[in-house]
Amino acid sequence: MKDILTAPFMVDMIRTVTNMYNHGWDERNGGNVSLLLEEKDVAEYLDVKQVLRTLETGFSAPELEGKYFLVTGTGKYFKNVQYAPDVNLGIVRLRDGGRQADLLWGYTDGGRFTSEFPAHMMSHVARMKVNPQNRVIMHCHPANLLAMTYVHSLDEKEFTRTLWQMCTECIVVFADGVNVLPWMLCGTNEIGEATAEKMRTARLVVWAQHGIYGAGADLDETFGLIETAEKGAEIYMKIAHLPLVNTITDEQLHQLEKRFNVKAREGYLK
Ligand code: 13P
Ligand code: ZN
Repeated sequence: MKDILTAPFMVDMIRTVTNMYNHGWDERNGGNVSLLLEEKDVAEYLDVKQVLRTLETGFSAPELEGKYFLVTGTGKYFKNVQYAPDVNLGIVRLRDGGRQADLLWGYTDGGRFTSEFPAHMMSHVARMKVNPQNRVIMHCHPANLLAMTYVHSLDEKEFTRTLWQMCTECIVVFADGVNVLPWMLCGTNEIGEATAEKMRTARLVVWAQHGIYGAGADLDETFGLIETAEKGAEIYMKIAHLPLVNTITDEQLHQLEKRFNVKAREGYLK
């Protein structure tokens, strides 16, 4: 059996959460990440028949029966993951229609997966239906996106259009736009269901006054998606209080659509 700390998925996860911390997106235990794994990849590093503990999930997700996930632990600090991956991360396999998760590796201090496990798992189900290649759900607290939810309308079309106007690359990276949830209590099945519903039409979902969720095929892509939206929000927070002299027009956004072969969310451009 190979050393699991050398597994590409583990190395990638550790690097990504460390980078998220270094970007200031994950103060204290803020943020959580889940990565869908293939059984054949896990089996190179673990005896998949060896279950350490079984955890209750508190929801059902039959679509995820038998699926493996590498997930950050609840209450764990991203800054510590690189120094103690086995305490701060865990590998689980869902069973009993998603109601239970068998722990195969990690959470060695007796911990469990993130309190946002419902939002993660329900969002995986939603995104898989849109894109079977989707493997990652990522949540964090980037300061400018969060700040924007205090001073900008939470209307999804208006929020998306503002971000598209803030940097030329935004529409190229997230032509599907940004969906927005009003403030809701986090860590619940209700916010999980609401997030998954929003994930049906976009890969980015803002939680007002809290943070953002991103979805993607791999950790880099998902990180880059949030990074680009956060850059747009940063520009907005730098200019929102100043008189606006120039912007990116809808005509220019249409030019970007053509040049980069992307399709802006239906009805979002004039
Ligand atoms: P966890 O520590 O349970 O992952 O929660 C962090 C967080 O960001 C809650 O939304
Ligand atoms: Zn959070």
